[in-house]
Amino acid sequence: MYMSGPFQALLDAHEGFDESLLQHQEAMVRGDLKSARDLIAELQAELHAHIRHEEERLLPLLEERGGWGRIGEPRYYREEHAKIQATVAALVEATNGLDTSDPSLHRDIALLIGREQSFRSLLEHHDERERKGLFPDLARVTTPEEQAGLLGKP
Ligand SMILES: [Fe+2]
Ligand SMILES: [Fe+2]
Repeated sequence: MYMSGPFQALLDAHEGFDESLLQHQEAMVRGDLKSARDLIAELQAELHAHIRHEEERLLPLLEERGGWGRIGEPRYYREEHAKIQATVAALVEATNGLDTSDPSLHRDIALLIGREQSFRSLLEHHDERERKGLFPDLARVTTPEEQAGLLGKP
């Protein structure tokens, strides 16, 4: 299990995603839909950038060098990324669709928060796969110089 090392910054980002999702939920509970919408849109943008970095910089190198274990098949990361992006897009849409003049507003918010719980589980599962697979696998097949390059700006 990958707990610390050269790719720690990417794991810290995963924790940031969960925190942003919770802040978005808190805003909905307060009835502050403007903040709730801004926060989920920011989360979508952050996830997009994080996934792009993994798919364009990290995965090609791993795919080229090989050596992954059973849980670390590169296509699993790509499949989960597609699912994460589709789900967060649907949540952005649902949040934008909340209507303060609708008598069912509070129930709609409760149901949306319930729906978001499975998104949290998906992110948690993906974090675990990258901790157990991607980061230790990459650390094994790269030099410290390459690792520094993988984290920096292109
Ligand atoms: Fe990640
Ligand atoms: Fe990822």
